[in-house]
Amino acid sequence: MNTGGQSSLEERLRDLAALNQKLADTLNLDTLDSKWRNLVQNEPQKLLDKDGRLNWGNLQNFRRLSIFLSDMAPSSDFSHLDIRRWARAFAEQPGRSVGELARELLSGARRGQRDMLRAIWRVIDRDGMTDLMRKYPVGATPGNPYAFRYKDCEFNVRWARHVYLNGLLNRHIGRDIDSRDSFAYADIGCGYGPFSYVFKNEHPRATGVLVDFPEQLLLAYFFLGSIFPDAKFATPDDYGNLSSLDSAFVRKFDFVLLPVTHYERLASGSVDMVANFFSLGEMPRFWFDYYLTSPAFKGAEYFFTSNRIESAPRLEPTYDTDLTILDYPLEEFDKILFEVLPIYPFYTRRKNFFFHERITFSAPNFDFLGRRKGFPAP
Ligand SMILES: C[S@@+](CC[C@H](N)C(=O)[O-])C[C@H]1O[C@@H](n2cnc3c(N)ncnc32)[C@H](O)[C@@H]1O
Repeated sequence: MNTGGQSSLEERLRDLAALNQKLADTLNLDTLDSKWRNLVQNEPQKLLDKDGRLNWGNLQNFRRLSIFLSDMAPSSDFSHLDIRRWARAFAEQPGRSVGELARELLSGARRGQRDMLRAIWRVIDRDGMTDLMRKYPVGATPGNPYAFRYKDCEFNVRWARHVYLNGLLNRHIGRDIDSRDSFAYADIGCGYGPFSYVFKNEHPRATGVLVDFPEQLLLAYFFLGSIFPDAKFATPDDYGNLSSLDSAFVRKFDFVLLPVTHYERLASGSVDMVANFFSLGEMPRFWFDYYLTSPAFKGAEYFFTSNRIESAPRLEPTYDTDLTILDYPLEEFDKILFEVLPIYPFYTRRKNFFFHERITFSAPNFDFLGRRKGFPAP
């Protein structure tokens, strides 16, 4: 069991990286779509050298470098146009600061980012979630992210989405979660763990089972391990010999890091909720079925997801998968919440150097939270 007290996070990450190398062959890359196949093949080189040693500098800047995932916007330190911060930067690097400020003020791309970020803030505000947003300023979190500072809030696009999704959960089932001695959830396609950061802070007794590619889990370990130094993490070292990870095992930990090829070991009843954000809809059908016909999914009380209504719209076929909302087994659940994700109502594109345009998504996301019908099974 990996607890903060036993060894430094750096040592524990090194152990996980060595273990990941042994796992590398268990994933058949041909089963992935082209975007993720490409990322799985290339991104790990930014974290590990060819002898498998960690690149600590890149790890500490992994969000700024958009390793595996981008936080989308902003993409500079001056997006907030805060003159005091800018003056401090100017004192250190005058040339760079003047250039960056000019770009912020003039470039259509940068002004478009601000337009979009302010629109996101307005949705958060309208939905009464600014207190939650204020509670979790993104700039203070690991990976050196870019942060947009606006009306006492500090966020970027990915961050705002996870604050919002947690706000929805709190509103609908927060009391139920906190009334239990334990609450375990699986986050499939967890990325570096932004959802779990907010969730664990909001519900400290919770256990998160984080499912993703091994190197994504390295980032999640770095991210969450830096924030929660005393948390208990399970890695493949802790469950290597177990063919089934049951409820009692999972709940011994704060976080279980579960590479995709190990997910099938997660037993029915091991988790109370399966969550998935912005990723099932990006997967080929093979993986979609792997997760949504699994014992863990079939035995979970809640399903919480935000994904595209149509993964590859005819006019903008973003992913090579033909999945749509009709493929999600929503009929297995009583609806608690259904909506079109209001965060990120449009994106912006540079029109020419000075101007930008707002583009409506051709495939918006749907948010769904449901409770399994007839749960628990007799
Ligand atoms: C767009 S990102 C979303 C990440 C995270 N859920 C979030 O909202 O910030 C998609 C995620 O799905 C993961 N992913 C892609 N294919 C996967 C698969 N077959 N199994 C599990 N995760 C996968 C990627 O590694 C990535 O972390």
